[in-house]
Amino acid sequence: MKNFYRVLSLVTLIFLIPFNLNSAEKIEYLKTDWSFKGLFGKFDRGALQRGYQVYTEVCSSCHSMKYLSYRNLAEKGGPEFTIEQAKAIAASFEVKDGPNADGDMFTRPGRLSDKFVMPYDNVKAAQAANGGAYPPDMSVLVKARGGGVDYIYSLLQGYEDPPAGISLDDGVYYNKYMYGNKIKMSNQLSDGLVEYGDGTKSTVEQMSKDVTTFLMWAAEPHLESRHQMGFKVIVYLTILTILVYFSMKRIWSRIKTEV
Ligand code: HEC
Repeated sequence: MKNFYRVLSLVTLIFLIPFNLNSAEKIEYLKTDWSFKGLFGKFDRGALQRGYQVYTEVCSSCHSMKYLSYRNLAEKGGPEFTIEQAKAIAASFEVKDGPNADGDMFTRPGRLSDKFVMPYDNVKAAQAANGGAYPPDMSVLVKARGGGVDYIYSLLQGYEDPPAGISLDDGVYYNKYMYGNKIKMSNQLSDGLVEYGDGTKSTVEQMSKDVTTFLMWAAEPHLESRHQMGFKVIVYLTILTILVYFSMKRIWSRIKTEV
């Protein structure tokens, strides 16, 4: 019995420690209802398409998404633009190619197989244009930050005047949700900044949600099929459990219980 209590208190400790650590530095992020959360979660196609629009029109001048190709925009489980739409999107970008027969580099309209065009040639150029700070690649940014989608959603809406007593250098801004509250990216969103084709009102909140949904898909393009698979596995295991239960009853039914 003594041992039992020892083990019990040890197990309790193991469970309590991480919770305590977390609660000490827990930040309350803004909440919203993500369509992709939960066992049956799916991406909202409208949000993905609008999110792509916000990324292209606003964020892509500084942030690259080097793992995405224009082709991905038409794939199942993503924004699901039609192939024609995705081709037109690709063709609206200039892609560097070459060398040609004369040994020269040239530009041509993008194709489905091209990767998303990068805003800067290299990291140094990106830093030079942004006061020394590097706008991180956004392909998997959702996964790279604690807080994930809630963090990015909040960060985009977290700009405030600094509290009294805090002074900011040039090109540094105060953001409630940034680690250390100082960020070298100015507030990028304002109501009505983009004009959505589907008539959705482009409030700061709406654009934050849409672009974050888009970033979530970029980081987890197979989320929907994974959810479907998870569901199938649960059904399979349930059926298996029932079968095992009945076969066990049958096997043991030959043995008489002694009362
Ligand atoms: C004018 C250039 C510029 C534009 C446009 C821009 N960003 Fe940034 N962004 C930056 C820079 C620079 C940083 C790095 C800031 C730092 O490290 O202090 C950054 C950082 C971030 C971060 C990471 C913060 C962290 O935890 O490190 C997120 C998320 C982000 N941007 C999202 C966006 C989104 C979404 C858009 C489009 C709506 C956008 N940005 C548009 C320049 C830009």
